[in-house]
Amino acid sequence: MNRHSYNAIVKEWDAARSTLFSHETAFLDRLLINLQPPAKILDLGCGTGRPIAEFLLRRGFRVTGVDQAEELLSLARQRYPEGRWLQSSMESFESDEDYDGAVIWDSLFHLPREHHENVLRKVVGSLRPGAKLMLTVGGSDHPAFTDTMYGHTFFYDSFTPEQTVLILQNLGASIESADFINPPTTGRDKGRYGIVASVA
Ligand SMILES: C[S@@+](CC[C@H](N)C(=O)[O-])C[C@H]1O[C@@H](n2cnc3c(N)ncnc32)[C@H](O)[C@@H]1O
Repeated sequence: MNRHSYNAIVKEWDAARSTLFSHETAFLDRLLINLQPPAKILDLGCGTGRPIAEFLLRRGFRVTGVDQAEELLSLARQRYPEGRWLQSSMESFESDEDYDGAVIWDSLFHLPREHHENVLRKVVGSLRPGAKLMLTVGGSDHPAFTDTMYGHTFFYDSFTPEQTVLILQNLGASIESADFINPPTTGRDKGRYGIVASVA
């Protein structure tokens, strides 16, 4: 993926990504157990802020959204001025705050896997004791690949679910729940796996 791919599909992406899927609501419910507004949540790879940051902001949570695609962030800034929107790559993002929860939803798998542990280390390190993180990773053992979306090329790479779970555990996080969102097929779909982890 070149770094501007999401900018190039902002209209199509924004139209397609407007409401939460039921599995996402279930993950958000797990993230928010025991968390009261105005707790602070980091959303890494937040896109337009819709629908995840929107869901959180409407419930009174404070959200810091980080994304490298300025066109997507621009929509987030217009629609949700109460959010804090930072343009940065996930690889270079350094948090200046602690958070009560974090979301890395459908974004980590756009980075080469050599960056995944560092990103997870930074996020786990920015979470307060007891805070939870919800994330997705790829659902199978597959080398990095590219695919097209709305005529543009996107890069994907992921450790297996088991390897990601191990990385999180080695960083001191405990797995609260983890499951396939969609299992891999023998065809185009390499699968997607969702994890909720907590820090001690
Ligand atoms: C599939 S979208 C998901 C957006 C949002 N999390 C959601 O659930 O709708 C992937 C997002 O990750 C962002 N992204 C991809 N690679 C990134 C990187 N290296 N650093 C920061 N953001 C990145 C893209 O710009 C895009 O907004």
